[in-house]
Amino acid sequence: MERKLHIIGISGSLRKASFNRMLLRAAGELMPAEAELEILEIGDLPYYNQDVDEAGAPPVVQEFRDKVRAADALLFAVPEYNYSLTGVLKNAIDWASRPVATSALRGKPTAVMGASGGAFGTVRAQLHFRQVAVFCDMHMVNKPEIMVREPSRKFGPNGRLDDEETQQLVRQLLVSLVEWTQVLQHGRAYVSR
Ligand SMILES: Cc1cc2nc3c(=O)[nH]c(=O)nc-3n(C[C@H](O)[C@H](O)[C@H](O)COP(=O)(O)O)c2cc1C
Repeated sequence: MERKLHIIGISGSLRKASFNRMLLRAAGELMPAEAELEILEIGDLPYYNQDVDEAGAPPVVQEFRDKVRAADALLFAVPEYNYSLTGVLKNAIDWASRPVATSALRGKPTAVMGASGGAFGTVRAQLHFRQVAVFCDMHMVNKPEIMVREPSRKFGPNGRLDDEETQQLVRQLLVSLVEWTQVLQHGRAYVSR
């Protein structure tokens, strides 16, 4: 039996009742059989400081980088703050992206989704995320796009994703991410969804 693809999930919100973390948990449950999801927390990472990095990144950063580097693929759930990524998520990306020569992000198959209270459900934050991903040389899945609007109507009080349409989209995104990862690792045929 082939080993499962190990996908690292990162939410850009530290909030206890974060809809984006709920979305990642739902992805863990909807994951195709060939893959598994490990959710990493980013709240303990210090603010990026190039002096600290060059003197030797602290263990919490090393561990974070090692886990991201070892992952077969990445799945991000991005909230939108003031039309962009959250500061904590950008900070985590900045740590993972250095040193450039051994960046943990370079070449990673990556998918993004997001939930926000606003009318456009993180579309602007996701666009900024994709812009950052270009420079970090991550290989993004293009479709489906998942912008969860009115998340309080889609997640139950227990934090589970109840909305069937969103479940279906998340399933499709995960299948695309798994196939894209296989393409990049083994050159298998890929059809965009
Ligand atoms: C500082 C701040 C800025 C925000 N800016 C936006 C925004 O630009 N667009 C938007 O759709 N929602 C915005 N929101 C609402 C968040 O999308 C909402 O709080 C969402 O639930 C955050 O994700 P989370 O549930 O995973 O914590 C903002 C919230 C905060 C705290």
